[in-house]
Amino acid sequence: MNFDISSIRRQFPILQKKVGGQVLCYLDSAATSQKPQPVIDAISGFYTTKNANVNRGVHALSEEATVSHDQARNTVRKFLNARHSHEIIFTKNATEAINLVAHIFGDTLKPGDHIACSVLEHHSNIIPWMQCAERKGLELDWLPITKEGYLDLRETEKILAKGKTKLVAISGLSNVVGTLQPITEMTALAHKYGAVILVDASQLAAHEPIDVQKLDCDFLAFSGHKIYGPTGIGILYGKTALLEKMPPFLGGGDMIQSVTNAGFTCAELPRKFEAGTLAAADAAGLAAAIGWMEKVGIENIQKHEESLIAHTLTELQTIKGLKILGPTDPQKRTGCVSFTIDGIHPHDLTDILGKEGICLRAGHHCTQPLHAFLGITASTRLSVAVYNTIEEVDQTIASILRAQKLLQKK
Ligand SMILES: Cc1ncc(COP(=O)(O)O)c(C=O)c1O
Repeated sequence: MNFDISSIRRQFPILQKKVGGQVLCYLDSAATSQKPQPVIDAISGFYTTKNANVNRGVHALSEEATVSHDQARNTVRKFLNARHSHEIIFTKNATEAINLVAHIFGDTLKPGDHIACSVLEHHSNIIPWMQCAERKGLELDWLPITKEGYLDLRETEKILAKGKTKLVAISGLSNVVGTLQPITEMTALAHKYGAVILVDASQLAAHEPIDVQKLDCDFLAFSGHKIYGPTGIGILYGKTALLEKMPPFLGGGDMIQSVTNAGFTCAELPRKFEAGTLAAADAAGLAAAIGWMEKVGIENIQKHEESLIAHTLTELQTIKGLKILGPTDPQKRTGCVSFTIDGIHPHDLTDILGKEGICLRAGHHCTQPLHAFLGITASTRLSVAVYNTIEEVDQTIASILRAQKLLQKK
């Protein structure tokens, strides 16, 4: 498909919305992306024509709902190039997927074992490991990062070489400094020292192609809502051999093979990990989102976003007192640019911009350890998706300059 930004934007009804008399300028897609019409249609189409419990009934609607759900799982399988559909587990979001692994795989670890994550992780990829360490008497190691915001592989190897680390959890793309992490090298390193690796692909999945077989990671998690899909649905990918060994996470309907007064036996994968009524409409929406991304072309998305990030970096650096977090070389990052401006609190800045319809994010972006590492408590983040334009970036820069004048006068 030829890349035509106007036609892309027309597919997102919310982008026509006016805020403060101005057309919405949404630059907060790292928090959640907006949804194109085919995704909205897939969700409403499910409720209009197929709504029933998945896997439960034998009537026509239930069969249609089950087929739709199975197709959605297969769409995700292809998106990740997983070997088997049963390696794709539907969860509520990436957070739940990571918690599943922390509870179930993490709980197989023994007191004194180590788990490791980096300082640039989102809290969703820190807290579950802290809780797991507390439950099981484990040590949590912090993998060092370089000043630019990359995992320091040399120092990391020294930690793994001690032979105590049983699991490494790292994100593929930082939601603050925008650095693409060396996850292929990290996976090889984890395996070299006998550790299992979980990749948090919450940001990565929106911006880069993922091939779990090539990558060889053991687990990978992401949320539907960050890749143009609905909220309420996420994915855990796991290798068959690991998932088969793991007991179920939540108990309830659908995850059993049989129940007697004496106990229960588990269903096969993937149902073992999918207790309760499934979010079938959201799964249909997620499949539509993946289909939509593939139709636009992941390479087209990458190319367009690269030009947005390059332009953002160039323009932001013209602002006096503005410091960019992470590398300033556009080749080294994607997705978002976070920054601070001397003497201005991010919340004050985003408040003023918000009144002009510009949506940026202020705060610690659920990465307090990273902000502490950078010696700050908060930053402002501008994040892009395929529907953003160079004009929106320019509008934002002009607005930041006006806000800066106003705030520095006070
Ligand atoms: C890197 C990263 N990991 C995990 C998450 C958590 O995603 P969710 O809240 O959809 O579970 C986010 C959300 O911002 C994120 O950016």
